[in-house]
Amino acid sequence: MSVRVIVLAAGQGTRMKSSLPKVLHPVAGAPLVNWVVDAVLGASPDEVLVVIGHGGEDVASVLPDGVATVVQEEQNGTGHAVLVALEALGDVEGDSVIVVPGDTPLITSATLSRLIDAHHAAEPSITLLTTHLPDPTGYGRIVRDDAGEVVGIVEERDADDEQRRIDEVGVSMYAFAGGELVRALNQVGTANDQGEMYLTDVIGILAGEGAPIAAVAAPAPEVSGVNSHDQLAAVGRLLRARLNERWMRDGVSMLDPDRVYLDSTVELAAGVVLMPDVHLQGSTSVAAGAQVGPSVFAEDSSIGPGARVWYSVLRGADVGESAEVGPFASLRPGTVLGPETKAGTFVETKNTTLQRGSKVPHLSYMGDAEIGEDSNIGAGTITCNYDGFEKHRTTIGDRVRIGSDTMLVAPVEIGDDAWTGAGSTITKDVSPGALGVERSHQQEIPDYAARRRAKRRTSE
Ligand code: UD1
Ligand code: CA
Repeated sequence: MSVRVIVLAAGQGTRMKSSLPKVLHPVAGAPLVNWVVDAVLGASPDEVLVVIGHGGEDVASVLPDGVATVVQEEQNGTGHAVLVALEALGDVEGDSVIVVPGDTPLITSATLSRLIDAHHAAEPSITLLTTHLPDPTGYGRIVRDDAGEVVGIVEERDADDEQRRIDEVGVSMYAFAGGELVRALNQVGTANDQGEMYLTDVIGILAGEGAPIAAVAAPAPEVSGVNSHDQLAAVGRLLRARLNERWMRDGVSMLDPDRVYLDSTVELAAGVVLMPDVHLQGSTSVAAGAQVGPSVFAEDSSIGPGARVWYSVLRGADVGESAEVGPFASLRPGTVLGPETKAGTFVETKNTTLQRGSKVPHLSYMGDAEIGEDSNIGAGTITCNYDGFEKHRTTIGDRVRIGSDTMLVAPVEIGDDAWTGAGSTITKDVSPGALGVERSHQQEIPDYAARRRAKRRTSE
């Protein structure tokens, strides 16, 4: 007997009012459907088939290898989606068919395994996952008879007032005996408010035939579906909390975990300290002893051991051991800060390397620059790297002192131990150990203020 899982992900998600297919809306760095598929894979099924339709190519492109797809051309309801999947699966007689919706990202492998195990233990026609919700609005209600046996699921829009008061709901997750599912599905019609084939009707059909139906209770938060943006936000909050709890167990310290926003792809070491309003995305990693935040956005960046980054934006940047970034720095792609370096207040860098101990403390732009060790870039220095047609490189050696407000017109090279005078526009290379200075001589005009006042008086 094989365990074959169908993930339903063909719907548009009309209630999202978005051109993006619902299951592609991201939470904690991954599309909704990926959270579901990962949980499914964690329950070790024999086969996973995702039903795609709306935005199908885009949905298929985010799925992991080994997960098959089938296209439901017209989205005629959850029952129709399963029918399309069964055609692709072929013979399911004797197999367990598990159905999971693509819009419930909080579901865990443990709960799915529990559903599958319960189904295999009792071998009923259907094992349903259900939950109790204080506010069941929008969910199908579980209808039971006087003996407490499940007799059907009624969708909210088709329910009467009494049924709407039922707080036990179906969560669109089921384990079916394959043969029974095929048989019942062929009897499902479209006589409901939406004129669709409801998968939920299978339960009533089989119950009507006296087939055994089992129900397993799931923790309510795990089965929350996303149909709207407020539900997307609520589910995102729970997923982030789950991720943050895991990192804190692994030794990451967070002053306020409610204000730490991590993608599932981020890597953190034990001993990392995260302050409020930190957003870490993509392949970002943070090494031991680094303190990040308050207020840092970092995407595809690495932050080295003991580094300190605060009030800053990092995109595709590498920050070395014990380096300091911010406040208010913007590190753009190709920035490599060596150990003990600094990119300080109001500093922007791009395609720039700073080797060990070099500092750009204030108000500077370093683009397409190579800076050696222990050099200091004075406040207000700018690499003029663009001539209107092409970008050019600036090369600065070791132990260089760039004076404040230096314009480095690239391509230009400043040798080891060289200096530039404050306010200079450097257009020619500066030799090692030399001072490059470009300034007009300062003049002094004595008694200027008094003469100006006198001039004004005579003109009155
Ligand atoms: C469904 C259930 C409802 C349950 C709720 C739990 C039905 C009729 N209703 O309602 O009982 O309480 O889930 O979250 O099953 N889909 C397709 N093809 C379609 C239609 C839907 O693949 O033709 C997919 C959607 O992309 C989605 C999933 O099936 O991932 C569920 O569809 P959705 O429209 O969200 O169903 P609900 O109204 O939430
Ligand atoms: Ca739903």
